[in-house]
Amino acid sequence: MSDTTSSRAESSPTRDLPKSPGSAFEGRTFYIKTFGCQMNVHDSERMAGLLSAEGGQPVSEPQTADIILVNTCTIRDKADQKALSDLGRIRQVRKDGPGTILAVTGCMAQREGEEIFRLVPDVDLILGPSQIRNLIPLLDTAAEKNSRVDGTLWPVPEMTTPPALRPPGVSAFLTVQEGCDKACAYCVVPATRGAERSRPVGDILQEAEDLVSMGYREITLLGQNVNGYGKKGDTAGASFPELLQRLSEIPGLLRVRFTTSHPMDMSDALIEVMATAPRVMPHLHLPVQSGSDRMLEKMQRGYDLKTYRRWVEKLREKVPAAALTTDLIVGFCSETEDDFQQTLSAVEEFRFDGAFAFIYSPRPSTPAHGWGETPPREVSVERLERLQKRVEQQSMERNQSLVGTEIEILTEKWDPETRTAFGRTPQFLTVRAIVSPDQSDPVPGDLLTVHISQAARAGLKGNASPHA
Ligand code: 5AD
Ligand code: SF4
Repeated sequence: MSDTTSSRAESSPTRDLPKSPGSAFEGRTFYIKTFGCQMNVHDSERMAGLLSAEGGQPVSEPQTADIILVNTCTIRDKADQKALSDLGRIRQVRKDGPGTILAVTGCMAQREGEEIFRLVPDVDLILGPSQIRNLIPLLDTAAEKNSRVDGTLWPVPEMTTPPALRPPGVSAFLTVQEGCDKACAYCVVPATRGAERSRPVGDILQEAEDLVSMGYREITLLGQNVNGYGKKGDTAGASFPELLQRLSEIPGLLRVRFTTSHPMDMSDALIEVMATAPRVMPHLHLPVQSGSDRMLEKMQRGYDLKTYRRWVEKLREKVPAAALTTDLIVGFCSETEDDFQQTLSAVEEFRFDGAFAFIYSPRPSTPAHGWGETPPREVSVERLERLQKRVEQQSMERNQSLVGTEIEILTEKWDPETRTAFGRTPQFLTVRAIVSPDQSDPVPGDLLTVHISQAARAGLKGNASPHA
């Protein structure tokens, strides 16, 4: 999953959500700052939805907010540092007075627990990702008691989905699965997001239909191991490929995406539905992490490179247009130059359409914490740079190979002044398309066929083909 830092939930126009009558939050302002992955972005949308349903008003500056939520990530040490420095800034500018609340939510809050109160003394409330459904009672308790509240100690509520306040647009996130049962030696997520659980299929289909009626045309299904959906029999009968098939049949829903998949939960049926359901987009984000079997074993990933290769070959055979993206870690415990060379060869072999590469960051409460034997920092930095350079070259080559082709984009934005439509290809590449004055203006949500004329590393440019 890609990292994002945003505060968009609070700065976007409000969609109408049902409000509870006479709520204690009526007219109170809230500000949410988000760090981390798409799951966190969507968690912020849900917290904004809960507060709006109680009559809260989103604001775009912490200075003017009665309630401040800092939704943190803890995947690497840098994420902790970013959140702590933001909290340092926010506590200087927050409003004083009774009823104002500074809450730390998300993965760092879950991992650190009450240590947060020591690190940032004027925090009033902490809660982890699985406590979002308790947000309102927790805020009430924090306001009433006028003392610190540790929500991570409250019982975890049922997996129902609070109403989300999403930014208006064409594309929406939808959670289908939460938590992670894997035991990757480096990863803090099982400790912060708990055990895997899936939402019943009926709830997901209903939410998707509601999103279409609100004007969204694309949904991205979110889960830590999205393709592990339904494995535990908690979805009222649907497997992940079946869920994709059913979503792809919803009238008006033009595109369905999903992230992140785990190689251990891959199935032929998933590849089959990508091949046969045209609205299921041909893009698979399948983290490989390393090209060295020795490292994969140490990382406790549960597969070797041969198994990963088999899935890639199947995908490319059945879905030739598919984009394959990945995550890579360098500098894991005891990684040698030879291990790293194997990662570079994997990148050479699989020609990923994109890769997020990271330097291993030891995390408290993970199996590998304390194993040590990491390469010197400058060696890891240099490996990361070599890897990123090669991935970028490959992206550039791939983008250039698309010059001269016609590609369909889903219009996300339209600028009438420059007559430019902005959208994405099925493979998730960004495209800027000039629409000539004798063609009708597209609106967000329209599919446009674009003749690609230029490629850059960040995306493609072209001209909209005249409508048939
Ligand atoms: N250090 C570096 N990268 C990590 N990731 C997860 N945990 C760590 C860590 N401790 C990376 C993995 C994962 C992505 C979301 O973040 O590549 O797929
Ligand atoms: Fe997302 Fe992982 Fe960061 Fe939590 S720790 S916000 S799950 S990337």
